[in-house]
Amino acid sequence: MGVFKGEVTALPPDKSISHRAALIGSLSEGVTEITNFSAGFDNQSTLGVLRDAGIGIIQEEVEGAYGFPVRKVIVTSRGLWSFTAPDKPLMCNNSGSTMRMFAGILAAQPFESELVGDSSLMKRPMKRIADPLRRMGADIELSQAGTAPVRIRGVKDISPIDYVLPVPSAQVKSLVAFAALHADGESRILEPVRSRDHTELMLGLETIDSPDGQRTIVIPGRKTIPARPFHVPSDPSAACFLVALALLGSGSEIIIRDVCLNPTRVGFIPVLKGAGAHITIENSRIIGGECIGDILVRSTPGLNPLVISDRTVVAGVIDELPMLSVLSAFASGEFELHHAEELRTKESDRINAIVVNLERLGFDCEQYPDGFRVIGRRRRPSGRVTAECFDDHRIAMSFAVAARATGEAIELSQSDVVGVSFPNFFAIIDSLTV
Ligand code: S3P
Repeated sequence: MGVFKGEVTALPPDKSISHRAALIGSLSEGVTEITNFSAGFDNQSTLGVLRDAGIGIIQEEVEGAYGFPVRKVIVTSRGLWSFTAPDKPLMCNNSGSTMRMFAGILAAQPFESELVGDSSLMKRPMKRIADPLRRMGADIELSQAGTAPVRIRGVKDISPIDYVLPVPSAQVKSLVAFAALHADGESRILEPVRSRDHTELMLGLETIDSPDGQRTIVIPGRKTIPARPFHVPSDPSAACFLVALALLGSGSEIIIRDVCLNPTRVGFIPVLKGAGAHITIENSRIIGGECIGDILVRSTPGLNPLVISDRTVVAGVIDELPMLSVLSAFASGEFELHHAEELRTKESDRINAIVVNLERLGFDCEQYPDGFRVIGRRRRPSGRVTAECFDDHRIAMSFAVAARATGEAIELSQSDVVGVSFPNFFAIIDSLTV
């Protein structure tokens, strides 16, 4: 069993907030300074497409903890229509957030553009972005299968929209909001199941909550967005891997500093505490509209099995489900998940990816269209097992944590893929290993 102790001060900056800070900067009038911007490949893809569409981007690197760079990004724009027609397809690599959220902006620009990605992104569903943008008047073309390439013939006089989100997706909500900022009139987005709310917070949008948990977001059209600075807090989705490492390790204690504790992002904390995990939050405070604080976690032998079956809870832990399921399987031998069909549309089909690997590791699993179950029986493999990563950073990191914490002979089919969101993942784990 691994023993992990120490303080983490160099967690990656939050991926969702980094994307939005750059995109909102590109829509703002003036110079947007973003401190602690993520060096992860996905966020670098957002900077790349903005540059290719004519936005001024300067990135400076200074050395941070463990020798990993911390970045400052300066975005210069003249407001909502500062983009120029790109002379080549815009390459989003592995980043679904880049492709989907930038599509909302491009739909309101008076030129043609095309968004493409790596082999994983080219398989992910894009009809969910084409539907609202077509209703707003943009011409969107997808492949026969409803995937990228996304070809956009944008319109400057894009129409306002009243839109009910058909899937709980912060990316879809954000792309509709970004398009609606250009419309001549007010738009409203109704969110039946709450998803992360960084876009609303960062743009200062009005929100109306109803008693049944639904939220309406109001987007005024054609209002100048003055440039303002953003500071990106540490990524709670990255913190979750270290939390699991300490919980599963023996005699471990880790404190992770300055993590974004936005309630729409840290659903994994109440889920784990409900199973008996020793986690406490310290030093919480509000900075730039986001709650930030430190997460203290101690090893918890005898963690109860996790059962996740509520749609709102699922939406609040959607990126943490790979780690939570692998943790629960190793800690308690059991896990159960329902209403998580969205998990099949991520960087890989994560339900399948987790089940394939847990089965290789001897767990008995049952798969459903919207989830899976690990059934408390295990035939431990005798030799070394390779975890198949399916080009998916969160699958790789979930099984890497299991390997380091339990000491079992698990190797990864790919390790570089962690750089999509957590370039210093292995360095931080090494630094915590006693
Ligand atoms: C994200 C929203 C989620 C999440 C993704 C980042 C965002 O995707 O899985 O990693 O920054 O808005 P969906 O909006 O597709 O659920």
